[in-house]
Formats: sequence, C-alpha cells, structure tokens
Amino acid sequence: MQWSAQSWRDKPIKQHPTYKDKALLESVEAQLKSYPPLVFAGESRALQERLAQVCRGESFLLQGGDCAESFSQFNAINIRDLFKVIIQMGAILTFGASCPIVKVGRIAGQFAKPRSSDMESNGQFELPSYRGDMINGMEFTSEAREHNPERMLQAYHQSAATLNLLRAFAQGGFADLNQVHKWNLSFVKDNAFGRKYEELASRITQALDFMKACGISPEHPSLKETEFYTSHEALVLHYEEPLCREDSLTGDWYDCSAHMLWIGERTRGLDEAHIEFLRGVKNPVGVKIGPNATKADIMGICDALNPNNISGRLNLIVRMGADKIRENFPKLLESINKEGREIVWSCDPMHGNTIKANNGYKTRVFDSVLSEVKSFFEIHKACGSYAGGVHLEMTGADVTECVGGSQAITEEGLVCNYNTQCDPRLNATQAIEMAFLIADMIKNR
Ligand code: PEP
Ligand code: CO
Repeated sequence: MQWSAQSWRDKPIKQHPTYKDKALLESVEAQLKSYPPLVFAGESRALQERLAQVCRGESFLLQGGDCAESFSQFNAINIRDLFKVIIQMGAILTFGASCPIVKVGRIAGQFAKPRSSDMESNGQFELPSYRGDMINGMEFTSEAREHNPERMLQAYHQSAATLNLLRAFAQGGFADLNQVHKWNLSFVKDNAFGRKYEELASRITQALDFMKACGISPEHPSLKETEFYTSHEALVLHYEEPLCREDSLTGDWYDCSAHMLWIGERTRGLDEAHIEFLRGVKNPVGVKIGPNATKADIMGICDALNPNNISGRLNLIVRMGADKIRENFPKLLESINKEGREIVWSCDPMHGNTIKANNGYKTRVFDSVLSEVKSFFEIHKACGSYAGGVHLEMTGADVTECVGGSQAITEEGLVCNYNTQCDPRLNATQAIEMAFLIADMIKNR
C-alpha cells in the first residue's frame, strides 16, 4: 500500500485521543500544517549518520529526559538543568570510556502518554485518565480530562521555544568543554558523585591546557559546541501528520516535529496506525521492546520500518525489567543477530522496573535500573553485538522520585520532592552516578 502522511488513518489505532469537536480538530491540524517545521531534514540525516556509528560500536547513544513534559513546569531553569546534566553525562562517558556520545533529549515534544487504563477513579468518580498535556489536563475534573485539540498548539509553541533555547545552549558557548566545571549543579557539587565529577572536570581541563601548550587550539568547533538532538514518542498522529514535510533536497518525507521519533510498547502492532505512520518518514525511528516480544515481532518491525536495512535508521529500545531481561533477552538477541539486521540496540531500564512503594508512590529502585543496564551489556557481549545506548527518564532537578543511589533515597523520603508529571525520574545526582557506572560498562563492551 502507498504511504502518505495520512495513510495511518485507514488503520486501527490504540492509545489515541478522541476529540468531540471535529471542526476544531481540523482547524488545529490546518494551523500546524501552516507553521514552520521545528527541525529540518538535514539534521535528522546527520543524526542517522551518528546512529550508524553507534551501530558499528564506534559511539554510544545517550537519550534522556522527562517521562512527560508539562505546560505548568515550562521554564528556562528546567530546560537548562536537564541540558547541563546530559552534557555532564556526555563528558563522563566520553572521557571515561574514550567513546563519542550521541546526545538525544526526550524533550521539545514529549507531551503525550500511553496509559494502562482508560479511566481513573478517585474512589467516588471515574474520569478519563490523564494522557499528557498535549491531550488533556492532570486536574481531576471532567473539563480538564476532556481531550482538547487546542492543546496541540500549545505543545507546538512550547517545543519551538524549548528547541530555541537548546540550540542556543548547544552552539552559543554554554557547551564549550573549556566550561566543563560550570556544568555541575549546585546541589550535586557537594555529594560523592558531584565531587567525582569535579575531579574528572579537572582532568579534562588539564588535558585542554596540555593541548594548548602543544600548540593545538582549544578553539576547535568540536570542543566549543555540541550536537544535541530532540526526540519524543510519536503517539498523537493528529500532531505528527501536519508537521510532516517533503524535503526539497531529496523529495523524502520527514516528520519535522523532532529529529527522532519512537513508538511505544503498546502501540507497535504491525498492522496498526503508528507503524504505518513511522514507516514513511525518513527520520531515525525507535520502537520499544517489552518482555513478551518475539523474534517474529522484531523481524516484522525491521521489515516494516527498515526494509532497506539502513544503518542508523532503526533503534530498538529494550525495556524488559531487571529480571525478565535475563530470562528473555539472551535467546531473542542470539536469534536476531543471525539475521544480519542493522539495529541500534538501546536499553530503557526504567519502564520495566516501575513499582508501587508502600506509601502509594510510583517509584523505581536505582539498583534495579542499574541491574537491567548491566544485564543488557553482558547479554550483548555474550552474543557478540554492541550495547549501543541507554534511554533514561531523568531530570536536572533535585527530585525524590526513584529510591536508592548514593543519596540513599528511601520510600519515606519520596514525599520530599515528588514532582513528576507521569513516571518517576532519576534526579541529577542519580543520573550522574549512573553515567560513571555506565562509562565502565562501555569500556568493557
Ligand atoms: C515511555 O517511554 O514513557 C513509555 C510509556 O514507554 P513504553 O512504551 O516502553 O511503556
Ligand atoms: Co515513562
């Protein structure tokens, strides 16, 4: 069947908003279609090149950000602090593992969530579940929970402003390696991993001084600037479709809402709308792979999304959980590796490790997260393929959402600053700790 940006409309679809006011939906879609693209095709092609290097084991993918961005917590500080932690982790991994890092944010479009249940009850009433600020509001009222297409316009504008700041940070001097000490956040500085980072930053500064003394200029663009890409789950196709553009250079179609898009574990059905949509856009694309995925599922995904077996096009994001990955992934990977498919394998150690604490908070245990990443590296090593990257839910803020780590956050401590819009995120300290541990794994892969 011929692909078009609309061809998903003929397929069954899951986890999608339902809008009452069709005329309003159409007018929003028309506006999005008339707006400028948020990214341009050449950038997505550059990312695909970077991901091809990941495929060959020459580089490592670091993807991270909020589970869900929010309209109410939109400000420069949050964007800056997430950016800081990601480039800090990038420095730790690059220096610690002598390996280039491809940095991709879950940001500037990550506003829509698949939910395990359609309805939510407060004990008295039932209302539609919150599905992310692009779709409805979190407040437990029937007005807020109604799916409202105009929210897509706000998501677009927030994404544009976010991307603008990210581009400024990446290219305007903030990410200059000569500033490596300044990236450490004040609340991280005084803990064990903050201090470990200061030591590493000092060694980087020494290396730069040494280069300078040898006559090598520290003004080289690869030291002064960084590449930072954006990504989100392509869940709301009423948003993604109107942001598709035909690239004037190649005639190919790109979804210009982000450099990279992925689809979730719950929407990856082979004959469904989300796969249909992603198969026709040329951006690098990701698919989440849960504990029950079969070889046939994965081969079907490869055939649908990467029929020409292009390196860097397809990222499979394994999210099985710390126990299930050990049981299910080795056999699966061994059988897939025999097929010679070009796959960027990354590990999402968050979504298979969500638990409910005794006090009702949704949380994740730092050691379970770490354990899934470790197993992922070990299984790849045993099967002769590359553990290519990690996909983390994390923030630059000092939140208490995941238990454990060097700060030893307890279940009781979750109340202190539990601030997520959806799933629990690693805080800045936990993310940096994770980066030091992953650097050693990359060195040994
Ligand atoms: C997510 O990445 O936020 C998510 C919902 O993941 P998954 O599709 O793996 O459940
Ligand atoms: Co999540």
